Amino acid sequence: MDKFKAFRIYSEGGKTAGRMVEMSVDELSAGNVVIKTAYSSVNYKDALACTGTGGRIIRNFPRIGGIDAAGTVLSSTDSRFKAGDEVICTSYDFGVDHDGGYAQCCRVPADWVVPLPKGMSLYEAATFGVAGYTAGLAMELLELNGMAPGNGKVLVNGATGGVATLAIGMLAKLGYSVVAVTGKDDEHGFLGKLGAQEVLSRHKLELGSRPLEKPLWAAAFDSVGGEQLSWLTRTVQPNGLIASFGNAGGIEFKSTVLPFILRGVRLIGVNTGDTPMPLRRKVWGRLASDLKPRHLADIAHSISLDDLPGYFERMLKGQIKGRAVVKL
Ligand SMILES: NC(=O)c1ccc[n+]([C@@H]2O[C@H](COP(=O)([O-])OP(=O)(O)OC[C@H]3O[C@@H](n4cnc5c(N)ncnc54)[C@H](OP(=O)(O)O)[C@@H]3O)[C@@H](O)[C@H]2O)c1
Repeated sequence: MDKFKAFRIYSEGGKTAGRMVEMSVDELSAGNVVIKTAYSSVNYKDALACTGTGGRIIRNFPRIGGIDAAGTVLSSTDSRFKAGDEVICTSYDFGVDHDGGYAQCCRVPADWVVPLPKGMSLYEAATFGVAGYTAGLAMELLELNGMAPGNGKVLVNGATGGVATLAIGMLAKLGYSVVAVTGKDDEHGFLGKLGAQEVLSRHKLELGSRPLEKPLWAAAFDSVGGEQLSWLTRTVQPNGLIASFGNAGGIEFKSTVLPFILRGVRLIGVNTGDTPMPLRRKVWGRLASDLKPRHLADIAHSISLDDLPGYFERMLKGQIKGRAVVKL
């Protein structure tokens, strides 16, 4: 591949912003697998990183953004991969300290590459991306801690977001009773279609203030942090579980030790950045099979590289729903 299009992020005059450029493979971050990118996606972290919002996620510029890529191997000097293999690359330093998926070609270390699992297309892989992987890893970790459909309701907040829409679809497919919390009052029907049995308005939540409130949820998937995470610690039922992976509503939360020592509540951190490869492959395998949401196609919509700046802006304002797949 001679020249290809890339959305490269620059830091100029104290401002971080991306623009379309033409590049060649030699200019990309080093790696032993060269991939023709078919699709990338937009995660909340991409919106932060590519706009310089909320601190510097990208430390060295210029940098191609995009923490997800799905595509076909063009060449590999690592024996695990060969030209023509369909693969996924997400997480690690991809799109942050290493050129990422917002380009028609990427070059990465073989240790970051996951073979596309059977039963998943490249478009589906990008629909999942880090968001789907996060939801899948949270499912896996909560199940390891005893989450099961018969234990009670599972709450998913930030419900129209990427991780949350996919989590709702996964939970519904496995027979969980899902309660969604959203700030978008006109999207209750969409969330019901994905599999939420109840939808609560974020604006009407009664958060309470006692250290222990009425126990309501067997488990929770938290994209939001802040006040909502505090509320979850107070309202999860005895021996209940909270997967904490997001900060869309803030990084601080207040609680007391009472949910933990009187109810045995377990707060489980989910970090997708550097999961060991065997677990990573296991989760991707599940995303292609038992965890694949029935309405995956309804969660995804396609955009182009040119659409990225406007899309980041809307995402940071909490105005998008589902997953944007970037068609390369
Ligand atoms: N730990 C990890 O490894 C990992 C991996 C991936 C993502 N994450 C994090 O997980 C979170 C979700 O990621 P995403 O890609 O799904 O983002 P997203 O698509 O932007 O979804 C976030 C959702 O949170 C809700 N929200 C936005 N602002 C809010 C506010 N101020 N207060 C309460 N709710 C708010 C919105 O949903 P409603 O309008 O429906 O309420 C929004 O759609 C992000 O914080 C992201 O950084 C972490």
